[in-house]
Amino acid sequence: MNAEPLRIPFLDLREQHAALAPEINAAVAQVLDRGQYILGPEMAAFEREFAGYLGVAHAIGVASGTDALHLALRACGIGAGDEVITVPNTAVATIAAIELSGATPVLVDVAPHGLNIDLALVEAAITSRTRAILPVHLYGRSAEMAPLIEIARRHGLRIIEDACQAHGASYHGRRVGGWGDIGCFSFYPTKNLGGVGDGGMVTTNDPALAERLRLLRTYGWAERDRSVLKGMNSRLDELQAAILRVKLRHLDEWTARRRALAARYTEALCGLASVRPPEAAVDGGHVYHLYVVRSPQRDRLRDFLAQRDIGSLVHYPHPIHLQEPYRELGHGPGSFPQAEQAAVEILSLPLHPWLTDDQADEVIAALREFDQLIQAPGGAAGGSPRG
Ligand SMILES: Cc1ncc(COP(=O)(O)O)c(C=O)c1O
Repeated sequence: MNAEPLRIPFLDLREQHAALAPEINAAVAQVLDRGQYILGPEMAAFEREFAGYLGVAHAIGVASGTDALHLALRACGIGAGDEVITVPNTAVATIAAIELSGATPVLVDVAPHGLNIDLALVEAAITSRTRAILPVHLYGRSAEMAPLIEIARRHGLRIIEDACQAHGASYHGRRVGGWGDIGCFSFYPTKNLGGVGDGGMVTTNDPALAERLRLLRTYGWAERDRSVLKGMNSRLDELQAAILRVKLRHLDEWTARRRALAARYTEALCGLASVRPPEAAVDGGHVYHLYVVRSPQRDRLRDFLAQRDIGSLVHYPHPIHLQEPYRELGHGPGSFPQAEQAAVEILSLPLHPWLTDDQADEVIAALREFDQLIQAPGGAAGGSPRG
């Protein structure tokens, strides 16, 4: 990504580092000098601070978002023979984590508004084997947690939140990661709160689950060399934790900047026919990890932006059920119409805390130009995205 030679790259993490270099370098030096690199004071402090930030009782640092999801399922006792309900339009990691636990992913389509799990379809997917619902807070916008929790309670199911794209996002004023039984976060470098390598966090208000998660991430050790359950090695290292502690102090200001840029884009795009802005969260809790527009002419739009030296990406171009390894789930084209339609229309625009107003305005100008081109006679307007 850093090699992208574009004038307005989708994201350049060097900008983030440049802004924080003195703080980060000091934190790194302290860890190196201390000589304790795993399960040390930085991770313990970051766990406390992240839990406090979210308003949850426990946070347990792990090695990645994928591990966070996998260990969350195992902590709930979910494994072979169990089913976990989730969506087809997510990072493949969501599905990989379910399969790592031994359980079977059961996919349900998303609602066209917001592209999160369609509540109307969840109950029909519940069987005697269902153990959990795993909503993904896609792009940083919370799924509809209150009705989901109500469904889960009625059927005796766990809720595990995939909050890997939603650090600080809220639903009805309360942060995600604290709504379900367990919340799962990724600190992959491009996330709203990202490290300089892999990292993840599991959050819960349940002390028994927290205890199991702590055991699971370190070989099931109750004490050194004595395992009380079958665990693995999945820990957030001290260097990542120290760097993430620095960045956590800036997260609210970064989120505010993301929201301001999203508002700037949305206001400008509302008047266009060929590009539709993303749905805001009703209570303003969207943290815009990604700003994802929809256009029936998505591929042309992407090329058009690239010609103007503007980066963009697609999250995600291939719904899970249409990807080779997951065909065994038994679905095909047409199984999940909303996810499939979204996959051909969505485009993520540059939006991050270091994007300037001028850069955002250049992106907007390019989108307006594209809109005029498409609307012009012979411009191949292929239907309105509002339809
Ligand atoms: C929705 C979602 N789930 C899970 C993951 C997995 O996180 P990680 O890459 O840290 O394993 C990611 C990040 O890539 C994600 O965006």
